[in-house]
Amino acid sequence: MKPVVLAGGTGSRLWPKSRAALPKQFLALTSDKTMLQDTILRLPTDKMEQPLFICNEEHRFMAAEQLRVANINYDSIILEPVGRNTAPAIALAALRALQQGEDPVLLILAADHLISDHSAFHSALDKATVLANEGKLVTFGVLPNEAHTGYGYIKSGESVNEGGFKVAEFVEKPDLATAQKYLASGKYYWNSGMFMFKASVYLRELSEHAPDIFAACTSAMENTEKDMTFIRVDAEAFAKCPDDSIDYAVMEHTADACMVPLDAGWNDVGSWTSLWETSQNKDGSGNVVIGDAILDGVTNSYINSEQRLIAVIGLDDVVVVETKDAVLVANKNKVQDIKNVVSQLKAEK
Ligand code: GDD
Ligand code: MG
Repeated sequence: MKPVVLAGGTGSRLWPKSRAALPKQFLALTSDKTMLQDTILRLPTDKMEQPLFICNEEHRFMAAEQLRVANINYDSIILEPVGRNTAPAIALAALRALQQGEDPVLLILAADHLISDHSAFHSALDKATVLANEGKLVTFGVLPNEAHTGYGYIKSGESVNEGGFKVAEFVEKPDLATAQKYLASGKYYWNSGMFMFKASVYLRELSEHAPDIFAACTSAMENTEKDMTFIRVDAEAFAKCPDDSIDYAVMEHTADACMVPLDAGWNDVGSWTSLWETSQNKDGSGNVVIGDAILDGVTNSYINSEQRLIAVIGLDDVVVVETKDAVLVANKNKVQDIKNVVSQLKAEK
């Protein structure tokens, strides 16, 4: 199994720490390691081939340095001149593997997830490897506990080997009413955003369901430049690639998808509130405090100070995040709206 780590997202809902220049996968938000480092360090190393990373050109030195200090050996870091979302990023990685004369089982990983139960995760990986070797596109399904509209939903179909199921239906980011219906039915899982399949199987499905992406990525990989551990793709060819995620471009259409249930404390750390939820370090009033802060009459809040002292009095359910040049104060139940602030900031630039 060859891990492919997708590290090209922007993580805008974790502003002001996560920025265009420093997206969340490069931050140490859930442990003393960065999320990128933890993504590899939690894998069963004895069963792994050298991982491939794929990120934006702009972040190459940060990515390479984080891998170096964590003693992570790897194949290479593919650099995207522009982000075209996950379907093309995975295609570049699959094409790279085939260029090396191999057709490995790829384990596609987001670089910004938290998984607390490593042995449950490893056992799901073992099951998925069997199915991927049979030519399936394997997803990892997490039992939902709310009608979250930021996830893909997988309807489980008939049973297959290894305790897995056929994917009867895959719906990326449904609207709220649909998500509520799915949750109530008890037949749907969340897509965790990790996948496992042979490189050739992914490329076959991509060429069938998204031929423009397949063609643009094939042409971008025909003319690459190797620079130390970096691989630069043909910028002009890649710029022509349509922007789409694996979920919309392939998973909603393929007939060969399977799902292995995953019960391993998975969380996609999508917001300050999910960091509060998953923190093991709450005080007696349910507050998570990182850095220097004085709280008086404050409950169930997330306070994170980088440089200055934060004082909060008489508030419940707040998020306060202080950095050198920006401070966020938000209702803990409204943190999804941070993306509006980020859009406004971009518009003002
Ligand atoms: N290299 C590269 N290039 N990586 C990218 C790009 C890109 O253009 N765009 C996103 N990524 C990386 C992100 O950094 C992240 O690690 C991963 O790919 C997934 O991208 P997200 O943008 O975070 O996807 P999402 O959260 O909206 O949705 C996906 O994950 C959900 C679970 O967290 C989907 O797979 C959903 O179905 C799933 O439920
Ligand atoms: Mg995500």
